[in-house]
Amino acid sequence: MAANLTCIECTQTYPLDEKIYTCKNCGGLLEVRIDIEQVKKEVTKSNLEKRELGVWRYFEFLPIKNKNKIVSLKEGGTPLYKCSNLARDLGLKNLYAKFEGANPSGSFKDRGITVGISRALELDSKAVACASTGNTAASLAMYAAKAAIKCYVLLPVGKVALGKLSQALLHGAQVISIKGNFDRAFAMVRELCEKYNIYLLNSINPFRLEGQKTLAFEVVNQLNWIAPDRLIVPVGNAGNISAIYKGFCEFRDFNFIEKVPIMIGIQANGASPIVKAIERKLSRIVPETKPETVASAIRIGNPVNAPKALKAIRESGGLAESVNDEEIIAAQKMLARKEGILCEPASAASVAGLKKLKEAGKIDSDETIVCVLTGHGLKDPEIILKFSEKPIEIEPNMNELIKFIK
Ligand code: F0G
Repeated sequence: MAANLTCIECTQTYPLDEKIYTCKNCGGLLEVRIDIEQVKKEVTKSNLEKRELGVWRYFEFLPIKNKNKIVSLKEGGTPLYKCSNLARDLGLKNLYAKFEGANPSGSFKDRGITVGISRALELDSKAVACASTGNTAASLAMYAAKAAIKCYVLLPVGKVALGKLSQALLHGAQVISIKGNFDRAFAMVRELCEKYNIYLLNSINPFRLEGQKTLAFEVVNQLNWIAPDRLIVPVGNAGNISAIYKGFCEFRDFNFIEKVPIMIGIQANGASPIVKAIERKLSRIVPETKPETVASAIRIGNPVNAPKALKAIRESGGLAESVNDEEIIAAQKMLARKEGILCEPASAASVAGLKKLKEAGKIDSDETIVCVLTGHGLKDPEIILKFSEKPIEIEPNMNELIKFIK
C-alpha cells in the first residue's frame, strides 16, 4: 500500500517506515495517509464482500506491508444489533448498536492493537508498552502474548476495573500501577518508550488508529453499503472517534458511500474537556486535572487525540455531549434489560448521550443511528454489583422459595 505519515498541523510528511509518533517539526499529531487511487486498483466492493468480516478484510486500507508479520486473534467482525425495544422507548425508528465487547479481549482496542502489534513486528521491536485505563492494557497484553514479545502496562493505581486488570496479569504483561491518574501514566510511558526504545501503543500511535477505522468500514458493510446518519461514540483519549471518522472519510473518497455520518462524541460530566471545547468554540481543549466518573475507561482529563477529535466533530457537523454517572448507569441497565446487551459503563455513555440528545430535540426520530458499545460489561463486575439489587438469600425449603415467586 502506498502511504505516508502526515502531520495534521503543519502537513509535514514522513515515510511510513519512520518510527515516530508525533511531528518532528511542530510536535503535531500524525496520521497515515493512504493513496486511495492505488487502493482503488486493488479492491472492489465484490472482492471485499467475499472475505470474512473483520479488521483484516480491509488489508489494502491498512499500513502493514508484510502479511507474515500480522498477529491476529480474529478481531472485528462484531455484531451490529438492531435495537428495536430501545428504539421504541426513545422514540426512534432505526437504532443500532455496534457491540465491540464481542472482540477477543472484550473491547474495540483489539482492532488497533492487531495492527499496532503487527507494526511492532515489522519494526523488529522487542517490547511494547502503553498507559491505560484498562482496556488497552488488556488488549496489548493479549496480543503481546500471541506475538511473544515483552509488554509493559502502566495503570492508574486502584482505578482499573477488575476484569481488565485480571486480563493484563494473566496474559503475562509487566503491570505497573502508578500512584497518579491516566494522564500522568501516559506522560510517563511516553518518556519510558523514548528512553528504552520500546514501541508505544497508545492511540497517539497512528498505526493503531488505522486498525480502529475498520469499525466504520464494517458498519457500512453491515448496513449494505450505506452510512448511518449519525454515529455516537464515548470519548476518552479521543482516538476512537478520530479513527472511525477517518474510516468513513476513506469510504466516501472511495465512492463507497455518499456522505460521512454526523459524529457525536459523549463524555462523562466529570471528564469532559472535548465537550467544553466544542461548546465554547475553542481551537484547543483545556485539560482537566482531576477527571472523575464511574466510567473508569473514560476517566481522562487531557485527551491526546483532542485535535483530531475536534476536527472529526466539526467537519462532520457533529456535536459533543456530556452525561452524568446516573445517566450512564441507567443506560447500561437499559441495554442489558431491553436488548440483552451487557456493556461496560463507558460504553453505555453513548446510549445515555443519545437519550439526552433525543429528549432535547437534537435528533430526529427517523434518522439511522449507530451507537458504539466499546467494551464488554464483564470487564467491570464491581460497578454492576454496586448498582444492582442484592440477591435474596433464603433457607433451603420450598415454602420459603414460593414467597418470592411473584
Ligand atoms: N470505551 C471504552 C470501554 C474504553 O476503554 C475507552 C478508552 C473509550 C471508550 C474511549 O476511547 O480513548 O479512543 O476515546 N480506553 C483507553 C484505555 C483510554 O486505556 O483502555 P478513546
